[in-house]
Amino acid sequence: MNPEPLRLAVVIASVRKDRVGPSVGRWFLGRADAAGFRDVDIIDLAGLNLPDDLAGGGDSELFTKRIDSADAVVLVTPEYNRGYPGALKTAIDTALPEWRAMPIGFVSYGGVSGGLRAVEQLRSVFAELHTVTMQATVGLPYVWDQFDDTGDLREPSRANSAATTLLRQLTWWGHILRDARTAAPYNG
Ligand SMILES: Cc1cc2nc3c(=O)[nH]c(=O)nc-3n(C[C@H](O)[C@H](O)[C@H](O)COP(=O)(O)O)c2cc1C
Repeated sequence: MNPEPLRLAVVIASVRKDRVGPSVGRWFLGRADAAGFRDVDIIDLAGLNLPDDLAGGGDSELFTKRIDSADAVVLVTPEYNRGYPGALKTAIDTALPEWRAMPIGFVSYGGVSGGLRAVEQLRSVFAELHTVTMQATVGLPYVWDQFDDTGDLREPSRANSAATTLLRQLTWWGHILRDARTAAPYNG
């Protein structure tokens, strides 16, 4: 096995003014650091110009390069009307071959469902892209009550434990799939 540390990309999928996404992302990055991930690329979609017509240009090439250079990707996504943000769909569709044989994890948040309905839709989208989605679920329900004034989770134990499981699964799949892609390019 290639012992090089895995490179993790964390995509912040909400782009609204006053969004909660960065707080959730900050918490998850702390968990990734605690799990030993030191090489982390934070891809905040609010800071990128990804054209809706998927014709390239703007930050499209930069985005696809960043996905391509990752060994594992985590999407930090809210739930909007039982789905996921439109900006995230544009980002997903902007990269195509770069997703193939990539391990994907989800950290979701929202109201009653903690974003899980958005994640179930994303699992279906990512099946089409030949990715491997992680079984673990990290969901923060009623997210507006979850963080204190300093940006820390008020009751972190359950979420921290779920994040640890997700990162363990990503580590296994990240190494296995990186080695496999090196041995033979994915041709499915
Ligand atoms: C347009 C919109 C639709 C929403 N729909 C849902 C929903 O269907 N289910 C849910 O649990 N929360 C829903 N919410 C609550 C969001 O998940 C919550 O406000 C979250 O903080 C949004 O993420 P953001 O602040 O990073 O944009 C919705 C919020 C918005 C703005």
